[in-house]
Amino acid sequence: MNELNDIKIHRGLKEIYLDRTKSSFIDGKNGKLYYRGFNINELANNSTFEEVSYLLIHGKLPNKSQLNEITIWMANNRDIPIEVINLIDSIKHLHPMDVLRTAISTLAAFDDSLDDDSIDSNVKKGLSITTKAPTIVTAHVRLRDGKDPISPEKSLSHASNFLYMLFGVIPDELDAKLIDKDLILHAEHGLNASSFTARVVASTQSDVYSAITAGIACLKGPAHGGAAEGVMKQAQEIGDEKNTTSYVKNLLSSGGRIMGFGHRVYKTADPRALILKIDAKNLSERKGNPKWFGILQSLAVCMEPYEKKGICENVDFWTGAIYNLLDIPDDIFVSIFALARIPGWTAQIAEQFSNNILIRPLLAYVGELDKPYIKIEHRK
Ligand SMILES: CC(C)(COP(=O)(O)OP(=O)(O)OC[C@H]1O[C@@H](n2cnc3c(N)ncnc32)[C@H](O)[C@@H]1OP(=O)(O)O)[C@@H](O)C(=O)NCCC(=O)NCCS
Repeated sequence: MNELNDIKIHRGLKEIYLDRTKSSFIDGKNGKLYYRGFNINELANNSTFEEVSYLLIHGKLPNKSQLNEITIWMANNRDIPIEVINLIDSIKHLHPMDVLRTAISTLAAFDDSLDDDSIDSNVKKGLSITTKAPTIVTAHVRLRDGKDPISPEKSLSHASNFLYMLFGVIPDELDAKLIDKDLILHAEHGLNASSFTARVVASTQSDVYSAITAGIACLKGPAHGGAAEGVMKQAQEIGDEKNTTSYVKNLLSSGGRIMGFGHRVYKTADPRALILKIDAKNLSERKGNPKWFGILQSLAVCMEPYEKKGICENVDFWTGAIYNLLDIPDDIFVSIFALARIPGWTAQIAEQFSNNILIRPLLAYVGELDKPYIKIEHRK
């Protein structure tokens, strides 16, 4: 056991490189993010979620006809089987992430190409899950509210369809554009915990449905995808800008964490947060509701001294306020993150399959050995 003393433990796999990737690059020092070599700012300002999904999954930007083709394909593949709708109805009391995880796992049962593990088929499965996921999330919200799910509308974009299926009205163009941008900004992000999870599942030569289902399970936690909901909970607890300083002081002195702050990789401002901050401000002005932006802004000011420790706003800090201003229920904030991340998971699962190695690290055993086995009747 003495050799254990020489083992260097990398708790949380901090700063460990698992493999090489061409999917995304996070420049954590300079606060930059690239998908397939394209700066996130350019994609957020010029692209659509459909185009970014193509980019991530196929590795290059589509030309006009390729974009047209993927857009039409997605428009024609948003419906989910009635069996899945019935399943959602039967578990509608669960958290939306539990419902999404279960429903996506169940979609596998309705995929005729489940056993085809070619690259083309895997990529198509990932795109199919991407396409159907908003239908699942919105059907759940409506069913639990005692309403009928709304069928997707072929003429609408992915982002517009999400709002349309949620609220039952054709969304305002600016609101839909904002959701589109938000989905783009959440689509991919290096070896975050859920992409790692999806890769681990893929590394055992499992299938795309299993890997994405596992990714969703991982994303659910508040240290990962659940932070946007946590941010709004904290903003609601603060209630008024004048309470922010004491709230932050009390929380931090009791060892708590401010949701939407800190990141394993960025030690400077998260570039996605910088974009979303402007959007949150514009949206709160457009909706005539400055309260949440004001509270979050005051929270950000209180946290300024922590910037030098590398604790800055992350992507989730402003998204909660944006969703709230769009009247989106708090408990589906993390589901929206999941909807957006499916193309990123798909890209990384495909990358893992294409150069596979079983991901199987080690644990250093620190327990006792050769303990005497005492028969149950003699145990205290
Ligand atoms: C995201 C997160 C899990 C990254 O954690 P990490 O890289 O493992 O960093 P650590 O948990 O080791 O934290 C490092 C230090 O920063 C502090 N810290 C990190 N995030 C903090 C936060 N949000 N609020 C207050 N302090 C924070 C820790 O307390 C720790 O301080 P210490 O060294 O004095 O003990 C962490 O920042 C966090 O919990 N953030 C809040 C949840 C969140 O917003 N998640 C969304 C991520 S996109």
